[in-house]
Amino acid sequence: MDIAILGYGVVGSGVAEVIEKNGRSIADRAGEQIRVKKILDIREFPDSPDREKITKNPEEIFGDPDIKIVVETIGGTGVAKEYTERAFRAGKHVVTSNKELVAVHGPELLKLASDSGVSYLFEASVGGGIPIIRPLSQCLAANVINEITGILNGTTNYILTKMSRENWSFDDALKNAQQNGYAEADPTADIEGHDTCRKIAILSSIAFNEYVDCNRIYTEGISKITLKDMLYADAMDSVIKLIAVSRREGDRVFARVSPAVVSKEHPLANVEDVFNAIVVSGDAIGDAMFYGRGAGKLPTASAVVADVIDIVKHNEYTKSVWERRDTDNLVPFGESLTKIFVRVAVKNKAEAVADIERVFGTVEYINADIKGTEDELAFTTMKATESNHSERIDELKAMRSVKEVVNVIRVLQ
Ligand code: HSE
Repeated sequence: MDIAILGYGVVGSGVAEVIEKNGRSIADRAGEQIRVKKILDIREFPDSPDREKITKNPEEIFGDPDIKIVVETIGGTGVAKEYTERAFRAGKHVVTSNKELVAVHGPELLKLASDSGVSYLFEASVGGGIPIIRPLSQCLAANVINEITGILNGTTNYILTKMSRENWSFDDALKNAQQNGYAEADPTADIEGHDTCRKIAILSSIAFNEYVDCNRIYTEGISKITLKDMLYADAMDSVIKLIAVSRREGDRVFARVSPAVVSKEHPLANVEDVFNAIVVSGDAIGDAMFYGRGAGKLPTASAVVADVIDIVKHNEYTKSVWERRDTDNLVPFGESLTKIFVRVAVKNKAEAVADIERVFGTVEYINADIKGTEDELAFTTMKATESNHSERIDELKAMRSVKEVVNVIRVLQ
């Protein structure tokens, strides 16, 4: 079967490479040979082994009836969306790694695919090479999924691992991630949690059978996490990770992306570097954890090619629809319950202790001998709603005994 690739970047060229390298075993599994006939890109690649397939003319792909599957690895929601719709209208299946497009326009694109009698598959959009979309939508289909908790971004996990293992500052760890090609020149989407947010929105939409809008999910990144926070976490026998959580609460969904203090006993605490992991809790299976390389050329290409093989092998389209609810289906963030870890710089410790306990009630102080935190009190609270916590933090900021609230980080439970 002939396929085309849109976008010859890291993932697109990886797809061509995997198909070339593993052509024979892929053909055995798919039941026929898979050939990359055309690759669309506006750039020149004179030294590429695929240079003869590269075209700037989309019509050579959309107008070619032999090309049955289009792999979209352009990214973003602009031209990628236009070409995806064009492929569906031309009766072609689309396989993508584009989490932003799926998270933002999933309902409309899945409907158009379904109306056109073709598949829209996106295993590579979450967790890179980790199989998670198909396990969630098929292998665990007998379960009521109660909760998903995950580390879904390789770049931030690499940065946090370097901070915690090597005692690097956030800036040094970010620079190192950029030098190693893990973080982009503009790392905003990764470090501010937007990438993780899109991924948990996709997983939630599959797990809870209705569209969960990434724009409505509370999202906080890791740019305010410091080495001192890491050292406090260590004193709590914990680490700090960027955690995505999503769970069903009644007929609504609670979802959040934020840094969290994670006990070293939790399975996610040991997920390091660019690795990702997702813990899925189902009513029949209990907890299942998926772990592997969450980013990178070949791991992501591996997931893309698996979707292509699936379409070729089954020669039918996978119907999947995400309904948008008329009313908001997310639990208002202020109502959600959490425990928090708080660092406060104080003027007078005895007075501040009294003030903290008057505001928060029972707290647990963290004793850590960290240079530069001599004027601080650090503590974890009992569980309360986000609204309660934020009112209490404001109260604390106004206390005469307090210089400033240095940081507030959620505690994963
Ligand atoms: N920037 C993403 C990450 C790439 O670091 O996880 C994979 O989606």
